[in-house]
Amino acid sequence: MKKSMIFCLLISLFILCTIPSFAKEVVLNYYSHAVENGTRTEIIEEFEKTHPGIKVNLVELPMNTSKKLQTLSTIFQAQDSSIDIFDADVIWPPIFASAGWVEPLDNYFTAEERAEFLDGPILANTYMNKIWGVPYRTDAGILYYRTDLLEKYNRSIPNTWNELVETSLYIMEQEADMKGIAGSWAQYEGLVCNALEIFWSYGAKVLDEEGNVVLNSPEAVEALQLMVDMVNKDKITPDGIINFFSGDARAQFFAGKLIFMRDWPSGWRKSQDPEQSKVVGKVGMTPLPTGIEGGRSYSTLGGWQIMVSNFSKHKKEAAEFAKFRASYEAQKIAAIGLTHLPSRKAVYADAEVLAVNPYYKDMYNVFLNAYPRPKTPFYAEVSSVLQVEIQKALTLKKTAEEAIKDATKQIEEILNY
Ligand code: GLC
Repeated sequence: MKKSMIFCLLISLFILCTIPSFAKEVVLNYYSHAVENGTRTEIIEEFEKTHPGIKVNLVELPMNTSKKLQTLSTIFQAQDSSIDIFDADVIWPPIFASAGWVEPLDNYFTAEERAEFLDGPILANTYMNKIWGVPYRTDAGILYYRTDLLEKYNRSIPNTWNELVETSLYIMEQEADMKGIAGSWAQYEGLVCNALEIFWSYGAKVLDEEGNVVLNSPEAVEALQLMVDMVNKDKITPDGIINFFSGDARAQFFAGKLIFMRDWPSGWRKSQDPEQSKVVGKVGMTPLPTGIEGGRSYSTLGGWQIMVSNFSKHKKEAAEFAKFRASYEAQKIAAIGLTHLPSRKAVYADAEVLAVNPYYKDMYNVFLNAYPRPKTPFYAEVSSVLQVEIQKALTLKKTAEEAIKDATKQIEEILNY
């Protein structure tokens, strides 16, 4: 071998060993939802293709959002650096930000970029004047209904909850084995989302604008009484509703056993899949009913963001992934593959996305105006009180009035802590 060749080889070896980016790739640990249908893998593969040198290692979290929060909190309490990025529920930014567990993303996710997103998810990720997450999916509670049944029995889409109860009773009288409505009423975050929509629509609130606890009101009692009666008096909800997660309500609706269902738009995909649903082509979507005649319909703002751990050793790469996960391209893949609701405005006008989600046109205003749950670093505790007290009323262990009073007292104690 010539001397010059040996020299070149030695130089190359030296460069390879001394410049770390040549030798190492960054692996981001992404704590995410339990397995879906390959859509998220497709997004991750796209990211890895366009970002050589960064790999994403997926770690699955439990299905239930309340359990996800418990799992993540335990890891973060130990200041463990094994999480780089994670899927965060829309109510979590104040919890994680105030604990010092996440990195503010203002330097990565500029105000100009944020303007391309819906206001609701951006506001939810903004806390103490900083942005803490990149929303890649929003969510909003909606009413699914059986178009064929309403037509057959000549009933209109219910505007109020009372109308929904009446219509359910009317159809149930004539259709054996049918029930009126189900949602996620088990003792977890889903129950709070479902219940608050009813509470708000009666004019009740948990906190006012200044953060005072204003739950104890005749409106809140009326709203909770409606839920109690749906289960115990009118019996329009299926047996075991107090143990229903979102998937349980879907299973009943897709089996053709429900007239109405309260769910998120992600239920749409399966409702239209003949392998999973008996109601393909018979499903309509509409805003949730109101409590008060002529009043406004409320839909809980849900959704998911990527947050970056403050203990990550790869914050820059982590922020790059967060932005990619919320990019137009990735949101389009998820809107088509999983009927996940986009957080970027422009995706709602995409023809291919609209072909799979034709309801976007009529429901855009509902998605735009989805209403946030209370914004507080103590959200998990507040939510847990609501879950327990609402279930006590639903199971007749307390009257609606007692449950509301007791919930108010406990929430006051939590927030004045
Ligand atoms: C959905 C929503 C999320 C909500 C959860 C409750 O995943 O996107 O915001 O907290 O349901 O189960």
